[in-house]
Amino acid sequence: MDLFEYQARDLFEKYGVPVLPGIIADTPAEARAAAEKLGGVTVVKAQVKIGGRGKAGGVKVAKTPDDAEAAAEAILGLDIKGHVVKRVMVTAGADIAQEYYVSVLLDRANRSYLSLCSYEGGMEIEELAVERPEALARVEVVPGEGIDLEKATAIAVAANFPAELVDKVAPVFVKLYEVYTGEDATLVEVNPLILTGSGEILAIDGKVSLDENAGFRHPEHEALEDKAAADPLEAKAKENDLNYVKLDGEVGIIGNGAGLVMSTLDVVAYAGEKHGGVKPANFLDIGGGASATVMAAGLDVILGDAQVKSVFVNVFGGITSCVAVAEGIVKALEILGDAATKPLVVRLDGNQVEEGRAILAGANHPLVTIAENMDQGADAAARLAAG
Ligand SMILES: Nc1ncnc2c1ncn2[C@@H]1O[C@H](COP(=O)(O)OP(=O)(O)O)[C@@H](O)[C@H]1O
Ligand SMILES: [Mg+2]
Repeated sequence: MDLFEYQARDLFEKYGVPVLPGIIADTPAEARAAAEKLGGVTVVKAQVKIGGRGKAGGVKVAKTPDDAEAAAEAILGLDIKGHVVKRVMVTAGADIAQEYYVSVLLDRANRSYLSLCSYEGGMEIEELAVERPEALARVEVVPGEGIDLEKATAIAVAANFPAELVDKVAPVFVKLYEVYTGEDATLVEVNPLILTGSGEILAIDGKVSLDENAGFRHPEHEALEDKAAADPLEAKAKENDLNYVKLDGEVGIIGNGAGLVMSTLDVVAYAGEKHGGVKPANFLDIGGGASATVMAAGLDVILGDAQVKSVFVNVFGGITSCVAVAEGIVKALEILGDAATKPLVVRLDGNQVEEGRAILAGANHPLVTIAENMDQGADAAARLAAG
């Protein structure tokens, strides 16, 4: 999960990374009030989860509260590379003498962490990496060792910071690493880190990505989610702890186990080619249990997708028997009642398959078709979606 700049700023502050005060505003009037509160020169900054806001007109200096109001007026509603600005942050203006770059990130390819650092800021980092790669230090950070003052010093030296600045920036790098590990982030980036006219080091733009797999350790991270931007079906699935990803097609998919669901997507896409090009509408893994409530929640999410024309339930009974799954489907249809409106093709196999199929056959639900195997089920579901 990527955070907004103001959320990154708040985290930085919590860990003692030097930042400027910032106040969020959703209207020009709020921006004016924020500027009045901060006093002096302020900077009004678009809060969108994309870089290059400055060049796109999303960062404006305001000398007075009037200016701040006008700046917010201009920035709110602005489209920055497809991201419409709904909120700004009004922050204190900094007297920038120099701009630097520093980040810590998860280096998946090397199964390690990596710190990137440059004494030459002011440029987009991707540009710098291509045009002046020698100016961008890349220092491996061993996860078990992290960034202590000694390591931070080595990073600053590798990035060509002059001796008198090394001692100033190194403690900030240590704190940024504390944000990285303390919050279970996959990226902490400061661009720019600045030196002010009076010799202070400040992080004036931050980007933080949090590892959602570590969410169980951070219940407070949930409040950082941008609920308004989330797909409503995905949000509903999340509430029910379902692994759901909305796709573009017409055949709703429910399966147990990520591998089985992924191969179901392939088989349905393949079958769809014979039926007018229909495609899978989603990925949904209901996991091991496949109880009636989980099945009902899954069906509810899928049936809520207006694009869905048919549903393919593809379950392999392993530890969970097909009896439990079949009973789950029958009960789920009962729970959903009139909300269940689209044809369901069910393929069951594995543990107690005969008994499971007998339960489905006995229930004789008008929307349910039982498939003999996965290919046949995919074909039937695709045909129903096309027809
Ligand atoms: N608080 C501030 N005071 C003075 N200048 C700022 C401030 N915040 C940003 N800037 C200037 O605007 C530039 C772009 O802002 P930044 O926050 O880095 O946004 P982005 O990276 O999305 O363009 C910075 O490099 C800096 O020169
Ligand atoms: Mg920036």
